[in-house]
Amino acid sequence: MARLLEVKGVSKRFLGLWALKAVHLHLEEGEILAVIGPNGAGKSTLLNVISGLLRPDGGGVFLQGEEVTHLPPEARTHRGLGRAFQIVQPLPELTVRENLLVGALFGKPGTSRREGEAWVERVLELTGLAPRAEALAGELTLLEDKRLELARALATRPKVLLLDEVMAGLRPKEAEEAIALVRRIRESGVAILFIEHLMPVVKALADRVVVLDYGEVIAEGPYEAVAQAERVREAYLGRRA
Ligand SMILES: Nc1ncnc2c1ncn2[C@@H]1O[C@H](COP(=O)(O)OP(=O)(O)O)[C@@H](O)[C@H]1O
Ligand SMILES: [Mg+2]
Repeated sequence: MARLLEVKGVSKRFLGLWALKAVHLHLEEGEILAVIGPNGAGKSTLLNVISGLLRPDGGGVFLQGEEVTHLPPEARTHRGLGRAFQIVQPLPELTVRENLLVGALFGKPGTSRREGEAWVERVLELTGLAPRAEALAGELTLLEDKRLELARALATRPKVLLLDEVMAGLRPKEAEEAIALVRRIRESGVAILFIEHLMPVVKALADRVVVLDYGEVIAEGPYEAVAQAERVREAYLGRRA
């Protein structure tokens, strides 16, 4: 069976500098993969190439064995790729439920209003937002904002969910709740690739970790092994301010 997501030899250059150099990675069904690395390592660039916001200068991105390298982000959403951003971007004048319905209807063309509404109810339950369904998106707390950002990504019915530092700014207690939510999302059958700089979160969630440094994969494996690797320790120490 084809891998859910595969990045094959992806390179990306900005103004002559390589932000990504021949990066390979893959995501299996049901897996939670963390991508970590020092500031400027290329993590966000990698997520942008996977989601289609950036075109790579070399290499390719494959979803369930099909090449999507030259497809725009919406086409990738239609093929089961969901994305949540660090900066939440809901439509503030719409209610939580309406925001999710927009995602449900536009994320999968051909979804009927009834199907969309039914799916939205499931997403509201899964993310714990059901009691806030009628609240305007613009009046949520930070934690609720993060839940909505995850819920908006889930509304498009992804098979693969990309998360870029969604825990940023949360207090430890709130991060714990967010970790539990990410686990529930995985249990619902969604594979997850996440970028995170909070190591306790990486340790708690990731089945496998890929470490980037200067655009290259320098280590890959379970958290414990990767955290002890000499090259990884040097990469982090070398650039700590
Ligand atoms: N749009 C851009 N234009 C020019 N340089 C960029 C752009 N985006 C990222 N870079 C550079 O690419 C490198 C990787 O950046 P980024 O992917 O944001 O790293 P990370 O998310 O790991 O902190 C950095 O050197 C950054 O300055
Ligand atoms: Mg980044």
